[in-house]
Amino acid sequence: INIPQFREDLITWFEKEQRSLPWRENRDPYRVWVSEIMLQQTKVDTVIPYFKNFIDHFPTLSALANANEQEVLKAWEGLGYYSRARNLQTAVKEVVEQYDAKVPDDPRQLGDLKGVGPYTKGAILSIAYGIPEPAVDGNVMRVLSRILRIEEDIAKPKTRKTFEAAVRDLISSENPSAFNQGLMELGALICTPKSPSCLLCPVQEHCTAFRDGVEQSLPIKKKK
Ligand code: ADE
Repeated sequence: INIPQFREDLITWFEKEQRSLPWRENRDPYRVWVSEIMLQQTKVDTVIPYFKNFIDHFPTLSALANANEQEVLKAWEGLGYYSRARNLQTAVKEVVEQYDAKVPDDPRQLGDLKGVGPYTKGAILSIAYGIPEPAVDGNVMRVLSRILRIEEDIAKPKTRKTFEAAVRDLISSENPSAFNQGLMELGALICTPKSPSCLLCPVQEHCTAFRDGVEQSLPIKKKK
């Protein structure tokens, strides 16, 4: 794979074709954080109205830190996985108290916050702060399993590390945000689980699975 060409093709496509989504209006780390927590177990179309409503009610870290828990859960009602909302408020309070209401840009400080796993941490660092860190979720694993023909079982927890290492090799230091979001967007719009649109793919020429005709067999996900 020609890494500089791959990066450029991915980023150019993302800048042109990205969906206009409310959390892409600016890079406020708090908004990136809220959106990435909501998007973890919930689809984009469902998240959009919840994200807007949540930000209307709690526009800043301090507003969320000072809200009562019932109000927060009310704004989350219908999204499910309510521990996400409780953990988010706990972590936001910690940021207000310990870090003067500024979301840390230090990977360790960020990763120690309640509910901030490796994916959310990488998404905040790259999208909000432009730091070249991987943000690997299921979509990104699918896309990269095909491009690089990685045949590890994505159901195994330790497989994520393989993909994080791959992203570290590939990621643009110039525009880590567009790079990571480009992988996510490719997974959502082109490199879909069933019948990916390879003929429209901006990185088709870099894709090992397409070259070998095995894109439909990747990623490998064994039953537990
Ligand atoms: N899925 C996870 N994070 C996302 C984002 N920032 N934009 C679109 N889809 C996503």
